[in-house]
Order: sequence, then structure tokens, then C-alpha cells
Amino acid sequence: MRVWVTGCNGLLGQKLLETIPGGFHCVGIDLQERAILADRCEYVRLDLSDRNEVKDLALGDKPDWIIHTAAFTRVDAAETERDACWQANVIGTENVAYAARKAHSRVLHVSTDYIFDGADGPYKEDDKPNPIGFYGRSKLASENALIISEVEHVVVRLMVLYGLTMDQKPNFVIWLLDQLGENKPVNIVNDQYGNTTLADELAEAMWTCVERQARGVYHIAGPDIINRYQFAQMIADRFDLDKNLISPLSTKELAQPAPRPLKSGLVVDKARNDLGIQLSATDNALMRFKKQWDARK
Ligand SMILES: NC(=O)c1ccc[n+]([C@@H]2O[C@H](COP(=O)([O-])OP(=O)(O)OC[C@H]3O[C@@H](n4cnc5c(N)ncnc54)[C@H](OP(=O)(O)O)[C@@H]3O)[C@@H](O)[C@H]2O)c1
Repeated sequence: MRVWVTGCNGLLGQKLLETIPGGFHCVGIDLQERAILADRCEYVRLDLSDRNEVKDLALGDKPDWIIHTAAFTRVDAAETERDACWQANVIGTENVAYAARKAHSRVLHVSTDYIFDGADGPYKEDDKPNPIGFYGRSKLASENALIISEVEHVVVRLMVLYGLTMDQKPNFVIWLLDQLGENKPVNIVNDQYGNTTLADELAEAMWTCVERQARGVYHIAGPDIINRYQFAQMIADRFDLDKNLISPLSTKELAQPAPRPLKSGLVVDKARNDLGIQLSATDNALMRFKKQWDARK
């Protein structure tokens, strides 16, 4: 099976390459000059917003699956860099869908809880989306681009992704560990609720989706719904760091540029019932993460 992993230098892309099951050959696609995990894939440097390039590559390469993780993921910057966000998230996904239709490939698309407004979570797969920020709107439009494309596809929605990779942008857990490790006080919101997702486990679950030829929409994330402040406290506990450095504050006080869904979260029962996918409880996932963190030092 030939599988494209778009965004292969991102957090999730690298984890997908680290966890390739036997029998799969990966082509990694991203914007940078070379693949970070060059020994795990063939690499093609490609901007997915170039429709003809994506189509030509697909027609030549004929991938069985395209796992599409590439995206503009900077939620706050999306409010001001709207064209760049739309190009990457919507036009990029339209082009992936178009190329997949031409090459008869299936698509696994990655989306987010930010398509919901956070008024009344946690959300099931068929709950009505109502994004409140530009990033969420672009990701909802990307899901719709696949639906209207008539390409066989599965959409995996996740939230609060964290993990350790080479050469990465900081995610919440790594940022917090750096701050607490240097004894710096941090203010963490206590009114943004949701599940957390260890990228290693998510990547394994996504390969299960491919192997099981999943179709439709699946919510895949850890089973516990907690707020960010509680998550920060669990991280401090697990890593023996000083919890007193963590103070709660409200989203209103933090005043981030993009609005956040507050009472969010993803109901993950469908993935468990249909596909046997069950991610670890938060503390168990943190234990797995800590082993990698300790091994790195
Ligand atoms: N991280 C989270 O908490 C979270 C939560 C829910 C859903 N998601 C979704 O999960 C997916 C993966 O997230 P992630 O955290 O792994 O993202 P990431 O680390 O930001 O990686 C995304 C990769 O895609 C690349 N990319 C952007 N535009 C591209 C284009 N036009 N053509 C080719 N490559 C392009 C990026 O390159 P540059 O870095 O150079 O732009 C980056 O290497 C995304 O679809 C995201 O929306 C993430």
C-alpha cells in the first residue's frame, strides 16, 4: 500500500511516520526542503495549494491512501492571516480531494473540535458545527470540501494534541514543562474543557482507520474531559514539578486573539464501538510521554 502523509514534518505527520505498520510505503509531503524523518519515507516538497502539482504527483504516484494532516494550525494567527489559512486548509484540502478523485485514492482527513462553538460540549460526530473563529471555519470548510468531492474518505477530529518529536513547534505540554522546569510561574485557563490527545496514540489509531478502511467521521481523543488548568496540574504531578507555580485564570482574562470553544470535548464512543479504538486515560498517556521526555535528556 502506498500512502501519502501530508504535513509529514508536523507533530502528527512525524508520529505517523514513526508508527508506519508493516506493508505500507509512505511518501511524505511538506513545505520544507527536506523530511525531518528522511529515513521513514520518500519525500516530496510540495505546496498543496498548487492544484496541478498535487494532481500530477497523484496521477504519477497513484497512492492508495492520502493521510492529510497538513494545515495552517496557528489558531490566533489565523484571525489576521486569513488568506494564508484559507489557502492551506481549504484550497489545500480541495486539491487533495481533486487529486484523490483523479488517482482513485482514499483520503483520511484530520479535523478539530474547533468546528464546534463550545456552548454545549462534549460533541458527537453528528452534532451541528458552528465554528466561532477563522481557523475553525476553515477546518469546517475543509471537511465540506471532502464531502462534496465524492472521494471515499474518513474525517478524524481530535483536540489538544501533544507529543515529542524532532525539531518541532512547541505544544502546550512541552511549553508548560519548559516553564515549570525553569521555575517560571504560569497562568492557565480553567474554563476551556476538552479531551487531550497524545500524538503517538492518535497516529496508531489513524493507521487502524486506514487498515480497517474506515469511512465517515470519527472523534478520536483521550477519554477524559478536563480543563486546561486541571491538565497542567496533572502534568506537574507526573513530572514532579511545582504545582504552586500554576495559577488559574479565565479565558476572558487571557484575552487570546481568537475566540475559543469553552465547553468543548469530543465523545469518542463511535471510534471505540466501530473500530475498537480507545486511547489511554490522561495520566497513562502522560506516563508514556514522560518515558520519551526522560529518554531525550
Ligand atoms: N495541534 C493540535 O492541537 C490539533 C488539534 C486539533 C486538530 N489538529 C489538526 O491536526 C492536523 C495536524 O496538526 P499538527 O499539530 O501536526 O500540525 P503542524 O505541526 O502545524 O504540522 C502541519 C504541517 O503542514 C505543513 N503545511 C502547511 N501548509 C502546507 C501546504 N500548503 N502544503 C504542504 N504542507 C503544508 C506545515 O508546514 P509549516 O509549518 O511550514 O506551515 C507543517 O509542517 C492539522 O490538520 C490540524 O488542523 C491539530
